[in-house]
Amino acid sequence: MPELDNPIQTWDPERYARNARFVADLGAPVVELLHPQPGERILDLGCGDGVLTQKLAAMGCNVVGVDSSGAQIEAARHLHLDARVMSGERLGFHNEFDAVFSNAALHWMRDADAVIAGVWRALKPGGRFVAEMGGYGCVQKIRNALVDAMNRRGFDGQSVVPWYFPDTDEYSAHLQTAGFKVSYIALIPRPTPLPSDITGWLETFAENFTSRIPARDRQAYIEDVRETLRSQLLDPHGVWVADYVRLRFSAVKPT
Ligand code: BEZ
Repeated sequence: MPELDNPIQTWDPERYARNARFVADLGAPVVELLHPQPGERILDLGCGDGVLTQKLAAMGCNVVGVDSSGAQIEAARHLHLDARVMSGERLGFHNEFDAVFSNAALHWMRDADAVIAGVWRALKPGGRFVAEMGGYGCVQKIRNALVDAMNRRGFDGQSVVPWYFPDTDEYSAHLQTAGFKVSYIALIPRPTPLPSDITGWLETFAENFTSRIPARDRQAYIEDVRETLRSQLLDPHGVWVADYVRLRFSAVKPT
């Protein structure tokens, strides 16, 4: 994947908690797939504000969380977690984890090979890599609306899409090339009711688009995107439902 030209996405823990708490709340299936055991040493890759990391710790695991956002790591430390600022594309661990876990983070890391190589290094032989991320087709309607509204304003919307949403064949190939044995991988459509208006989601996750629009035009841009999405994502009860697709997998570093 080419490097994004000047990626812009910031993480405000308070805004994240208000608009995106559902991300951790919906993490139960991938935690189940991880099947964590008390005493296991687990790396939570892209731990965000640490809400799910804390659940693993409460299950008796010895957890380290890493995230590239200093603000999110500060929030995670308030939960008394071992949380460290680190890029997922430059992990600095060697042969020390029983499992690497990740929820809703890998789609922000566009260099999959660098991520997977770091996970491989971090794991002990026999260790597992268990994760869920956005998969092929995830938020396609939202992405199209964001890109089209940018294009209408004379920008190249496609060039600022920050997300990487692979399908099962593509991500399996990356994992296998690194030496992993893939034991489970599936693409799972998961329409996701949002806790608030779609503008909350856009404010939280679409900064790579919105921040490039001049401040005086930003509100109109967001309103334009919202209007496009109204007929596609607003259900009859007035609930916005995001068109999420998840890629969930479990892979093992052979002994
Ligand atoms: C997520 O948190 O899962 C997500 C964020 C942005 C786009 C798609 C999914």
